[in-house]
Amino acid sequence: MARRPIIAGNWKMNNNKAAARELVDGILKGILPLDAAKMPEVVIAPTYTALWQAYDLIKNEPKVALAAQNVNPNPSGAYTGEVSLEMLADFNVKFVIIGHSERRQMFNESDEFINQKALAILNAGLTPIICCGETLEQREQGVTDAHLASQITKAFNNISEADAVKSVIAYEPIWAIGTGKSCDAVEANRTIGEIRKVIAKLYNQDVADKIRILYGGSVKPSTIVEQMAQPEIDGGLIGGASLKADSFVELIKGAM
Ligand code: PGA
Repeated sequence: MARRPIIAGNWKMNNNKAAARELVDGILKGILPLDAAKMPEVVIAPTYTALWQAYDLIKNEPKVALAAQNVNPNPSGAYTGEVSLEMLADFNVKFVIIGHSERRQMFNESDEFINQKALAILNAGLTPIICCGETLEQREQGVTDAHLASQITKAFNNISEADAVKSVIAYEPIWAIGTGKSCDAVEANRTIGEIRKVIAKLYNQDVADKIRILYGGSVKPSTIVEQMAQPEIDGGLIGGASLKADSFVELIKGAM
């Protein structure tokens, strides 16, 4: 069974109401003529403050799904500043990005907390996009594969086989994020193949063959075709190049 590609835009802390509207309108216009049967799964991850508007603009458009950039794994209660899965589901959010290196590094999120989030997301019937990736130092020390194996093993702790197969992984080398310097496509393919082997070891070959693993880190319209031509790469998690409708639509087309 072929894995359906995903093109996911991570807006990070960008776009006020007007900019969010302009971007979603532009994406909708750009994908209107595209054949839905050939399209990748298209996902956008606005900030919480733009979720309502994005939800409203895409509610009649099955070609686009919403993601959140974060979630709190607790159901409700005294968690000032946090948002629950029930609240996200209310906006028809289908995916949640977790384990992003920016959250790991700047907000001290641990592998254990990321695993709690993954379990809660799957329990609520949503799909986690579980990010992993090495620093430049780790790559230079030759410990990339071991580091990724550790991140993935901890993220998937206690996740059932049935839930694992529905999950999405994003391999995002930290040195490639926002730097304009994408990981070489062949090397990204190799690394993702190693992540797939970890999944095969944790579960079995069938889960490894079915789980979708994206590449992220300075994906651009000029890199996407080569990246998508790699057999292990099932799509992209895109920051900078997802902030302009034209380039995001180019990325979608590059995955068709
Ligand atoms: P970038 O970000 O495309 O701007 O490098 C990717 C990400 O952080 O998901």
